[in-house]
Amino acid sequence: MPITLDQLETIVRQAGKVAMHYFNDLDHLAVNKKSARDLVTDADVAVENFLKDALASQAPEYGFWGEESGQTADQRCRWIVDPIDGTHSFSKGQYFWGISVALEIEGQLEMGAVYAPALDDYYSAQRGQGAWKNRRPIHVSSETSLGSSMISTGFACLRSYLVENNLARFCRIAAVTTGQRRFGSAALDLCLVADGQVDAFWEQELNLYDVAAGALIALEAGGTVTDFKGNPGIFPKQILATNGGIFEEILPLM
Ligand code: IPD
Ligand code: CA
Ligand code: CA
Repeated sequence: MPITLDQLETIVRQAGKVAMHYFNDLDHLAVNKKSARDLVTDADVAVENFLKDALASQAPEYGFWGEESGQTADQRCRWIVDPIDGTHSFSKGQYFWGISVALEIEGQLEMGAVYAPALDDYYSAQRGQGAWKNRRPIHVSSETSLGSSMISTGFACLRSYLVENNLARFCRIAAVTTGQRRFGSAALDLCLVADGQVDAFWEQELNLYDVAAGALIALEAGGTVTDFKGNPGIFPKQILATNGGIFEEILPLM
């Protein structure tokens, strides 16, 4: 590995300080629209610039793919970064947003970190080594009944004005579950599955930078990550993460 999980944590926590500088001064935060329903702020750009420089100084040979700055030339080994996942929440002064950093080496996710600076919750994973929240091992929930479960989802599909969107799916599943949540950060949603706080999460029309780190964390915590048909893998356009215990029950409703 180009850096250790501890070195990555130091960098990501420093990025959290950059984000909190803007978060603590929202009256002066410049908020722009990338599209009708997709926001970007000066904080997103500042955090991504910080991470790009800091990761390059640790591992200059690695490429970088950031939501705001795009992809550098070499993508064989790369950092996949969403500088602020949950920008709309961030801009409103809500606490549920995260910084997502994943390391992919020749197509294989090796490391992932998702940090929620306003909550001071740091999730991480290394392939084959497990997943952690604030350096304590985490594991998915033991819930086995969909009827007793709590699910979370998102509506990126509405941003794309998809006709086949998530509204009917959400209603189907909400009707047969105990708890339903829409937290506003797909990266953190995946970490909540890993930490057993939520039993399943799904969303359509995401991008790899939204889900790469969170999906590795969910897998390393013993969860399933598939598409809506149950095919194993990380499919940002159709991602379903579960605790495994409710996987067979929720799949037909996807
Ligand atoms: C968004 C969040 C949200 C999801 C959106 C994403 P962003 O990320 O992950 O939960 O529903 O589709 O775009 O745009 O704030 O980085
Ligand atoms: Ca995002
Ligand atoms: Ca983002």
